[in-house]
Amino acid sequence: MKNFRGHKQSKLPKSDDTISQTGPGTPGGEYLRRYWHPVALTSEVSTTPLQVRVLSEDLIIFKTTENKIGLVHKNCPHRRASLVYGKCEKKGIRCCYHGWLFSTDGEILETPGEDPNSKQATNLRKKFRLGAYPTIEFNGLVFAYMGPTENIPEFPHYDAFDVPKITRRPYRIKYKCNWIQVLDAIMDPVHTSFLHGQNSEIQFSKGFAEIGELEFFERGVQYLGCNTRRVDDYVWVRVNELILPNFTQAGSAFAADGTRTRYFGRSSFTRWVIPVDDNNCTALAWANFGERGDPIEYNSQEGCERIEGGEIMNRSWKERQKHPGDTEAVEGMGPISAHKGEHLMPTDYGVMIYRRRIRKLIKNLKEGKEPPQPQQKKGEIVKTNGQDTVLRMPKRNIDDRKFIKSIGSAVMKLQFETEKMPIKERDNSIINQLKEMEDRGGL
Ligand code: FES
Ligand SMILES: [Fe+2]
Repeated sequence: MKNFRGHKQSKLPKSDDTISQTGPGTPGGEYLRRYWHPVALTSEVSTTPLQVRVLSEDLIIFKTTENKIGLVHKNCPHRRASLVYGKCEKKGIRCCYHGWLFSTDGEILETPGEDPNSKQATNLRKKFRLGAYPTIEFNGLVFAYMGPTENIPEFPHYDAFDVPKITRRPYRIKYKCNWIQVLDAIMDPVHTSFLHGQNSEIQFSKGFAEIGELEFFERGVQYLGCNTRRVDDYVWVRVNELILPNFTQAGSAFAADGTRTRYFGRSSFTRWVIPVDDNNCTALAWANFGERGDPIEYNSQEGCERIEGGEIMNRSWKERQKHPGDTEAVEGMGPISAHKGEHLMPTDYGVMIYRRRIRKLIKNLKEGKEPPQPQQKKGEIVKTNGQDTVLRMPKRNIDDRKFIKSIGSAVMKLQFETEKMPIKERDNSIINQLKEMEDRGGL
């Protein structure tokens, strides 16, 4: 009977507040506020104000009748009415209660019930503004910067924005849990073999159920988890990517299955995981379709859901229990996972190293050191490494696990060596070298 530990372990372990808190003034929240984040789909933003919650702040996003986007604090600074009931006009948003008008950068343009020349009205207009954040609309997503304006970073341009002949479909998927739980999955490539393969049902393709050889890389703010599988006569290298704090990519969900050659296919999604608050987060992304992305037949809401989490969102409890996808795996941990109750193993190395780094960057910021941005210098295009490659390399009379691992490492090496090249040149160089490697049957 002594072996039953239920009572001994009945107290729920604590969460890691440093990385899970997102609100204004919290160390984690301040760290996250040093970056541009998508906050809405362009299609969600109109002259009908929309309430959004981002980093534990309630905000209103709207378009003026001149198509300028505003992202402002929810409550009117007069007597706190919600601007979700506001009216969008040429110059900004007008509060429903007493008609104050605010520009997209928060300037109080009118206080119509008051004498405009009164001392109070003039003083207020001069000294006070509604809280507002700068936004950039890009390719169907609206990004915002919610940090101090003296530190505003350049909007990072990733090479993924420029992959030719890709149809990008913006999407939003909501999760009822802390952002770290969703982010963890990207640095946990081994879960694809179980959650998406062996344990539930085949959610992407049969090859996913194979267990690969893992290798992790920490390169500045870029974190990579490379998973190399053997599928019959093929070696399949799939690379998951995280660029801090929350930019993520992976190989395709449906285009590569380990049974056909593929050379440097690019990510199924270009995706950011944004905290709504400490207990909720949202993935805002583009699903990428085309020859180097996923097959165009997945270009639908359901297709995006399957790319994002293996299963569609709207399912019965019975279905969800029988065939859990990422949503069930990460939400099942509870709104904020009890991190101190985890038992991290070597396959969790990616999760360990990126969390450790975020903790460190949060600590540094508390001590006044600004965190690094993805781009090293102004105007730079950030080269990314999330991809999938499948090479025809039948088994030989050698240790195959060692062999496939060496192929994974070699593929990563040639990606790293070509990072300084312009995009097209880099693509050609990688693809040619992969074909040569395949022809040689190895390194
Ligand atoms: S509460 Fe908004 S104008 Fe009075
Ligand atoms: Fe997953």
